[in-house]
Amino acid sequence: MNSIKDKEIIAVGPVHGVTLDDLRNPVEKELKEFRTFFKKALKTDVFLLDQMIRYLHRMKGKELRPILVLYSARLCGTINERTYRAATMIELLHTATLIHDDVVDDAEKRRGLLSINQVWKNKAGVLLGDFLLSKGLLVALDADEFKLLKIMSVAVKAMSEGELRQLKASKLQNMTEEKYFEIIRDKTASLLAACTEGGAYTATENQAEVQRMKHVGQNLGIAFQIRDDLFDYGVDNIGKPVGNDIREKKITLPFIKALESCTFLERQKWKLRFGNGRKSPKDVAAITRFVHESGGFEAAAVMMESYSSRALSLLSEFPESPQREDMIRLVRYITTRKK
Ligand code: IPE
Ligand code: IPE
Ligand code: MG
Ligand code: MG
Repeated sequence: MNSIKDKEIIAVGPVHGVTLDDLRNPVEKELKEFRTFFKKALKTDVFLLDQMIRYLHRMKGKELRPILVLYSARLCGTINERTYRAATMIELLHTATLIHDDVVDDAEKRRGLLSINQVWKNKAGVLLGDFLLSKGLLVALDADEFKLLKIMSVAVKAMSEGELRQLKASKLQNMTEEKYFEIIRDKTASLLAACTEGGAYTATENQAEVQRMKHVGQNLGIAFQIRDDLFDYGVDNIGKPVGNDIREKKITLPFIKALESCTFLERQKWKLRFGNGRKSPKDVAAITRFVHESGGFEAAAVMMESYSSRALSLLSEFPESPQREDMIRLVRYITTRKK
């Protein structure tokens, strides 16, 4: 018979789960340095902007992208001033897109606090996002980092395209698995690829390694977004709303996979329920239950693992080192994280 202790372990997930602190530890000093860069980049004389930026500093994100930039640089060479610049740019761009995304998704919570659009309304959210976006690109331009600027601009363009495509696909109710992957490749994986490519680029001249790192980031990014989409069908407190994708009628992989396993009639029924009208808490709960009971949640998790395996296999082409081990731990974190 299982003891209570066993049950507790099962409830909290994998016993050897990687924590965010495990990821921060190897680059603790460097992360501090990054934060100094980041704060400096956000200085402004405009009163309202300054107020919002103060609030932003209180909203603590995981800083996963800066960590990824730092890890990529030290895997391929040595962290240097250019690496901090790349990390700063990316976190600025990321923060900008989150603020815009919350306007688009009408989300009321972010990083455990009220979202910017809740506190200051949509208009201010759009403008703050624009400010951060331009600041991000200026960090590169001010230092004549044209190649970094190019890497980041490509990502920003893809992210906007991904968010726009998602808007259209969910409106027309014509989402397919193929489209879903196109969208998340653009809206999320492109920026994680910029982290690994940009980080590596600041530390090595070896183009083959830079390209390999870019592919690591692409695969990692896809796994990362699937994990995020799984959260929406969960019950955990993740510092932002759950069930929001359902309320917004945003079709993601768990639901696509759930539909695949249904009969034709059932499929029509659930599609209608998903696409029609305002969602009551009862609708959200019923759809969530359906996605779990039909195996959609599990099937999406399996696909997530296959992308994380691809990232791991690319990493195995690097010679063994503590830096490579750290990167492997980060890949494991992406698929097992709790927020
Ligand atoms: C959220 O990214 C947006 C997605 C691409 C799913 P994070 O989960 O990295 O957000 P923060 O920075 O930790 O808040
Ligand atoms: C990712 O999509 C957002 C961006 C790439 C900007 P989501 O809409 O799923 O992100 P969350 O869940 O709001 O963080
Ligand atoms: Mg969102
Ligand atoms: Mg989400």
